[in-house]
Amino acid sequence: MELILRLKEFYLLELLQLKMYQSQLGSLQDEYLRAVYERMIQSERRHVTFYEQLLMEHQQKIPSIPGGVTSLVGMFLGEAADITSAKNRYKLGAAVENKAIEMYRALILETADRPDLQKGLWHNMIDEEFHLLWFKDNQKQATTLVKST
Ligand SMILES: [Fe+2]
Ligand SMILES: [Fe+2]
Repeated sequence: MELILRLKEFYLLELLQLKMYQSQLGSLQDEYLRAVYERMIQSERRHVTFYEQLLMEHQQKIPSIPGGVTSLVGMFLGEAADITSAKNRYKLGAAVENKAIEMYRALILETADRPDLQKGLWHNMIDEEFHLLWFKDNQKQATTLVKST
């Protein structure tokens, strides 16, 4: 039962990433940035499906989010944030990905006796690591651009 609760929590964590990047994609004009976000959305959708399938295999209901994306940000980061603001985009993305990696590390340790889950969890976590690296790198570049003008 404990595992089911964790799976529901991770479903919401991944849904947060999916919904957040989907809503930010709508405000992006730059073609390169749009392609980056499309790729991230693809992996977040895969992660969401991973937990949906596990929950369905256990005959569990898929959790719903009464407060929408904003309430999910609050749930995982402990503070409200404007996810559509361009200024916050990379900072918020990095914060959410950081939190996800931290949670995955804990879950991977907790499920050491479940070899059937480990590979999928590693794969998801490594995707989050790639996302985090991209955000960090782009935050740096954004700063450089501001400084040079
Ligand atoms: Fe994810
Ligand atoms: Fe991610």
